[in-house]
Amino acid sequence: MTSEEDLKALRDDRGNKDASITRKQGMGTAEPVRAGGHSHPAPGGPFLIGENMTGGYGKGANILNGCTIAVERGQIAVIVGPNGAGKSTAMKATFGMLNLRGGAVRLDGEDITELAPQARVAKGMAFVPQTNNVFTSMTVEENLEMGAFLRRDDFSGTMEQVFDLFPILRTKRRQPAGELSGGQRQQVAVGRALMTQPKVLLLDEPTAGVSPIVMDELFDRIIEVARAGITILMVEQNARQALEIADIGYVLVQGANAHTGTGRELLTDPVVRRTFLGG
Ligand SMILES: Nc1ncnc2c1ncn2[C@@H]1O[C@H](COP(=O)(O)OP(=O)(O)OP(=O)(O)O)[C@@H](O)[C@H]1O
Ligand SMILES: [Mg+2]
Repeated sequence: MTSEEDLKALRDDRGNKDASITRKQGMGTAEPVRAGGHSHPAPGGPFLIGENMTGGYGKGANILNGCTIAVERGQIAVIVGPNGAGKSTAMKATFGMLNLRGGAVRLDGEDITELAPQARVAKGMAFVPQTNNVFTSMTVEENLEMGAFLRRDDFSGTMEQVFDLFPILRTKRRQPAGELSGGQRQQVAVGRALMTQPKVLLLDEPTAGVSPIVMDELFDRIIEVARAGITILMVEQNARQALEIADIGYVLVQGANAHTGTGRELLTDPVVRRTFLGG
């Protein structure tokens, strides 16, 4: 197919995005399992688990104190909790940016605790950090190309899929990311992560600093990514809205699990409501 035909095919395909961003072979073990709203646990346990994670920065005190975060294949897990609770630290630990003093991280049954972040990317993990998650002086397109730096194959099709998911980025592809609105930058950051065709996407506060309308829109796109079979683990300060779309939710307090349940369970738990959701 010519690229023009590719584009047309992709446009015609709108509304049926199953597996559009997942790998067709090789890494593409994640199934589009959310059609019925539920997924099945992998035989060997959760798809991704940071189990009993304990550790801190450098020689400093422990920030994580036996924290466990897990997400099943194709599902959306959400971490909420007060500022400074260790949510970002838990994400960094899962991605290999923190040396754990205790606990383990397993992906699809494989112990990856000792792997560096780039090795985890090669295993199918992608991470969008809370801050400084785009290269502001580079164009949108260059940012997306940076996301594909580990790939040796033709990634133009994936870039078109990202533009399909976030059409505004196609329009602004030649603009420096620094000129974009906050919500558009977050789309660049998520798009860049998707360029690796990840099996699991880690998002640290993807809706930080955006308006409620943009937040809803971003959540819709995240659901779309999950429906394409990509497992999602995200931290959110918009706890109520995030738990609405969560298959499983974790409330972290002082680096430990305070409450765990389905999004619905946490939303209806009187203690969680009173303490973390403002009543
Ligand atoms: N790079 C770092 N070096 C040393 N301490 C750090 C570092 N990053 C975070 N901390 C400390 O770790 C603790 C947890 O921080 P973390 O960023 O994980 O919290 P958080 O739950 O993500 O908070 P927020 O809601 O504000 O994003 C805080 O006490 C913080 O000061
Ligand atoms: Mg944080």
